[in-house]
Amino acid sequence: MPKRATSFELTLPPRPAGAVSAYRWLYAALRAEILDGRLRPGARLPATRDLATRYTLSRGTVVTAFEQLRSEGYIEGTIGSGTYVSKVLPDDLFKVGPAPVPTRAVGKPRRHLSDWARRVNPKEYYQQRPVRAFRANLPALDQFPTALWAQLTARCCRRASANFLIGCGPMGHEPLRQAVADYLNTSRGVNCVPEQVAIVPGLQEAIDLIARLFVNPGDRVCVENPGYPDAATVFAAAGARISAVSLDAEGMRIPETKATLAYVTPGHQFPTGITMSLSRRLALLEWARKSDALIIEDDYDSEYRYSGRPVPALQGLDRDGLVVFAGSFSKVLFSSLRLGYLVVPHDLVDIVKAARATMSRHPHLLEQVVLCDFITEGHFGRHLRRMREIYAERLGILLDAARTRLDGLIEIPAIEAGLQTVGWLTNGMKAEPVARALAARQMEVIPISRYRTGDDADDSDAREGLQLGFAAIDAHEIRRGIDELARVLARSASD
Ligand SMILES: Cc1ncc(COP(=O)(O)O)c(C=O)c1O
Repeated sequence: MPKRATSFELTLPPRPAGAVSAYRWLYAALRAEILDGRLRPGARLPATRDLATRYTLSRGTVVTAFEQLRSEGYIEGTIGSGTYVSKVLPDDLFKVGPAPVPTRAVGKPRRHLSDWARRVNPKEYYQQRPVRAFRANLPALDQFPTALWAQLTARCCRRASANFLIGCGPMGHEPLRQAVADYLNTSRGVNCVPEQVAIVPGLQEAIDLIARLFVNPGDRVCVENPGYPDAATVFAAAGARISAVSLDAEGMRIPETKATLAYVTPGHQFPTGITMSLSRRLALLEWARKSDALIIEDDYDSEYRYSGRPVPALQGLDRDGLVVFAGSFSKVLFSSLRLGYLVVPHDLVDIVKAARATMSRHPHLLEQVVLCDFITEGHFGRHLRRMREIYAERLGILLDAARTRLDGLIEIPAIEAGLQTVGWLTNGMKAEPVARALAARQMEVIPISRYRTGDDADDSDAREGLQLGFAAIDAHEIRRGIDELARVLARSASD
């Protein structure tokens, strides 16, 4: 067990007036702290000099109490070089089995959950597991320049002023808003000024923010089907009626009904990878105009384009303030950064600002400043170019291996952007049993059916496919994955 420093001050119960000697009191108080678990095994005790000053004792008294505890096995180490709570306490050695669980029925308080809390779904969202074929939704984190990031962070801390320690406005760090606006105007076909940009703690929270501002219980919200489930979860928690709208080769079809909100991923549809055609984008804007609807354009990973002509963002085609553009640094940098951005129409800036101030105020300023430096000093552009090359190569390896090993078993369409694609199963094979068989072979593939909602979820005619991530895994793992896939699919096809 590693040794831990206690950086907080130890608070001991007051010494009772009268008979107990100072040494006895200190010995008993420290022993009680240790046995009650407030001072845990491995924790560092305060220096004898500090304890003496804090409790107005002579240093000799503290040293004697420490010696007594040491001789009984409660603490270890030497005075002067650090004293620690022993890893195995003498009292543990005499214990037989675990401490009994209290049997007294503890009165359960009656909770009055909100309607939102009743609708929100418990789910596992934090998954730290080994990266293997064909993990989707993840960049190649081993390629991230962490040493450079650490240098920028250290520099930012060294220069931190009192103002920096106070924080920034609810829309985020001004220079970062400027840098994001420059990047989006130049590279993503977004049309905005920095005042429209809000820096947010991740795109997921941005979707929640928009739902809070625009969705009342009973309102209709259109989502793609199949689509990003965590967006639908947010709208369902807000009490929306969800319309799951199916896709064709050009992206989400135009909804047949009016709605308050439509949520789309036009750059690289989640999970199928389709890039929404220009004509579909224009038709969707026309639908939003006629329905008085707002569109959330989720641009979570389309920075990485491998082929095809770049299609301007929906936001860049919008002249009427119908689109809120939302992006994330989770896929281009790393997801624990928890930074994303919103580009909102001019008339919504004030309400978004008010909502941000009411929610989490602003994301961590240190990360915002480091990210800003990373972008403005040219590292971001370099990182994007380097990763685009790596991912394009990995996609090529996946497609080549699939052509030779999976011919007739799976169809992988040409995707233009993103970190993952789809393998559509042929020969009437079902994706769920295939995914289960692959899991037994240390592989991770998600059936597209898990992203379907509404009536389509049980549609037996719906195409069966597997989401295949290629960005986070190297050439060796991609080839291993294809070999395993070939074995499992060949067996399923002959069953
Ligand atoms: C389609 C899509 N939108 C939004 C998000 C959320 O991104 P963030 O990590 O910025 O919250 C994800 C994350 O996986 C995603 O896949």
